[in-house]
Amino acid sequence: MPQTTAEAQAPQTSTVDFLPLHGTDYVEFYVGNAKQAAHFYKTAFGFQSLAYAGPETGVMDRASYVIRQEKLTFVLTTALKPNNPIADHVALHGDGVKMLALKVDDASDAWIQTTKRGAKSYMEPKTLKDENGEVVMSGIHTYGDTVHLFIERKNYKGTFMPGYRKWESNYNPPPSGLLYVDHCVGNVGWNQMNPWVKFYEDVMGFKNILSFDDNDISTEYSALMSKVMSNGNGYVKFPINEPAEGKKKSQVEEYLDFYLGEGVQHVAIATHDIIKTVTDLKNRGVEFLSIPPNYYEDVLDRVGKIDEDLQPLKELGILIDKDDEGYLLQIFSKPLQDRPTVFFEIIQRKGAKSFGKGNFKALFEALEREQELRGNL
Ligand code: FE2
Repeated sequence: MPQTTAEAQAPQTSTVDFLPLHGTDYVEFYVGNAKQAAHFYKTAFGFQSLAYAGPETGVMDRASYVIRQEKLTFVLTTALKPNNPIADHVALHGDGVKMLALKVDDASDAWIQTTKRGAKSYMEPKTLKDENGEVVMSGIHTYGDTVHLFIERKNYKGTFMPGYRKWESNYNPPPSGLLYVDHCVGNVGWNQMNPWVKFYEDVMGFKNILSFDDNDISTEYSALMSKVMSNGNGYVKFPINEPAEGKKKSQVEEYLDFYLGEGVQHVAIATHDIIKTVTDLKNRGVEFLSIPPNYYEDVLDRVGKIDEDLQPLKELGILIDKDDEGYLLQIFSKPLQDRPTVFFEIIQRKGAKSFGKGNFKALFEALEREQELRGNL
């Protein structure tokens, strides 16, 4: 019997996760005007003011506004002067996601493990301290100008992190039911999907859990390919898209043309009640892609019985898909800024762990209608 115990306790070296992640810590956008962007995300999506950094806190080159709703934290950062990396990023890409910050127990080890496996360092581990404790952060480059930061905050009790002060506001709009980042999608260039899949496998220990080729994701006009990368516990999921040949320009190409390179295409945000959340967001002025009513004629034949009434889903344009484990409800916003680049997905999972493959055709046809209006199809 002792042998059995020893066996049960023996370390399973093959399954040891060298980069344990506890989910998304925050998403940082570089924007042209952070004060106004923070107001937009509070008003339109129901975030609350959390923290601020800028000249008043001793940060002279930028202003950063931190907003939060449940486990979803956004940082909106702008440059205060030209000719620095933030101003250059915004001039080139427009408003977009710069940092996908991941929660770790040990930011130094995360940096060591990933850089020794080939990641290009963005920031060596550094410790930020104030009277509330310390935060250790480090970072590596990923596709385009996008960065993964590793954030270790187990010894910190302050509002956000050293360098920031609490942001008290008289304007505290009610939340909209957004909970946390479900997944975050990157658009990469022609023939770049597999190299980035390999990066997430080799450098971060992720696994490819789903793949879609251009037969899965194509319409009469345009196509793309996608592979979903997930970390060991499934808290961090990064689908990677690349364009595929079609008769006309794909949505990924349009993104690459306007972002001037690879970057984050969409952030998918979870809710427990998508009908309530989307009704609320629409009332606040958030615009979503519209889905033709005939999508709903046979959708229940495809997905089977669902708990929700079909009518509100149809009125709101919410899509439905299923996999072996259940179903999901999802909807996609229009771009969040003037360039047709980053947008949000709102998703409610009812067992399903997939990404809405059954909706791709309807979704891409909706996207093509928008592309056509912009003259980019
Ligand atoms: Fe998605």
